[in-house]
Amino acid sequence: MNKIIEKAEQTNLLDKNEIISLLKIDNENLFKAADRVRKKYKGDFVHLRGLIEFTNICRCNCFYCGLRKDNSNLERYRLTEDEILICTQRAVNAGYKTVVLQGGEDLFFTPDKICRIIRKIKKYDIAVTLSIGERSFEEYKAFRDAGADRYLLRIETTDENLYKSLHPGMSLENRKNCLYNLKKLGYETGSGCIVGLPNQTVESLADDILFFKNLDADMVGIGPFIPHPNTPLASHLNDNFDLALKVNAVLRLLMPDINIPATTAMETLRPDGRIIALNSGSNVVMPNMTDLKYRAKYEIYPGKICINDSPDKCISCIKSKLNKIGRTVSNSKGFRHDKI
Ligand code: SAM
Ligand code: SF4
Ligand code: FES
Repeated sequence: MNKIIEKAEQTNLLDKNEIISLLKIDNENLFKAADRVRKKYKGDFVHLRGLIEFTNICRCNCFYCGLRKDNSNLERYRLTEDEILICTQRAVNAGYKTVVLQGGEDLFFTPDKICRIIRKIKKYDIAVTLSIGERSFEEYKAFRDAGADRYLLRIETTDENLYKSLHPGMSLENRKNCLYNLKKLGYETGSGCIVGLPNQTVESLADDILFFKNLDADMVGIGPFIPHPNTPLASHLNDNFDLALKVNAVLRLLMPDINIPATTAMETLRPDGRIIALNSGSNVVMPNMTDLKYRAKYEIYPGKICINDSPDKCISCIKSKLNKIGRTVSNSKGFRHDKI
């Protein structure tokens, strides 16, 4: 096993079988190697991206997600443009160089509205990341022309049958095409997958990793699956932390210079889950900038961290956690190809 880890560290290349064997076995050396590669390519800087969860209204029905259209137990909200700008100002005041506008697929936010918001945010001279799901090439182009820098769209799973079973009315092909379009338009393109979905295999997780490499994704977020009680997958209780951490580490070995967030879902499953991920390949954290009154309503999965903590508390909390592990908040916008 150590031979495969060594090969990955030196060449950044593994075939599918080698990836599968790393995912099947527990070996501390995998995390240590991922940490070395992270340090070599990305340094000790951690990029903070201020997350603004601006709408929990969604037209989709993804089986795993608490925001799915058919969850009638959720009180829905949308931030006004002014509220989005207040969150942005808060992020800027705290020294953030990026905000991430994330939400359900809410068509109330027409291309014109999104473009207007992007233009207003860009006046602060920060990077803008969008994470608002599947849109047409023309819409992605309009957002890009308005100044959007990055886009996050997880593939969720590359297993065709699994994808179909979890996403009514959606298709893996269209999801892939969206990612290709984003790349074509020059976005820093983020993707990712959920780890531990019912009927997901390690073979398909290996395919996911190879898909990200093939796409040349600029950022990849790995989220352990956490079942939500008001979804069809409510009964699939499982602890997917360890497997998600292995996927995170293998990803760093194979894609040494990309941005890899330590995801909120990791910290939801373990008290210091993001720190563990930062020591196993990750170099990005996305603290929540959303107002307290909305936080609990963006309930993708239960037990989400920080729903009672103010944005200011999260900022100081993250900074002190980073200090303890000898990492520093970066002052740059944190593009993949920035020099460290
Ligand atoms: N609607 C946009 C989309 O789907 O791309 C962005 C918002 S969506 C809430 C963000 C991510 O949440 C999804 O890409 C998915 O991976 C993750 N997610 C949703 N439900 C989850 C669950 N139960 N466990 C872990 N991650 C989940
Ligand atoms: Fe909507 Fe995204 Fe949740 Fe799917 S994952 S239901 S698209 S918010
Ligand atoms: Fe929110 Fe620690 S990140 S309180």
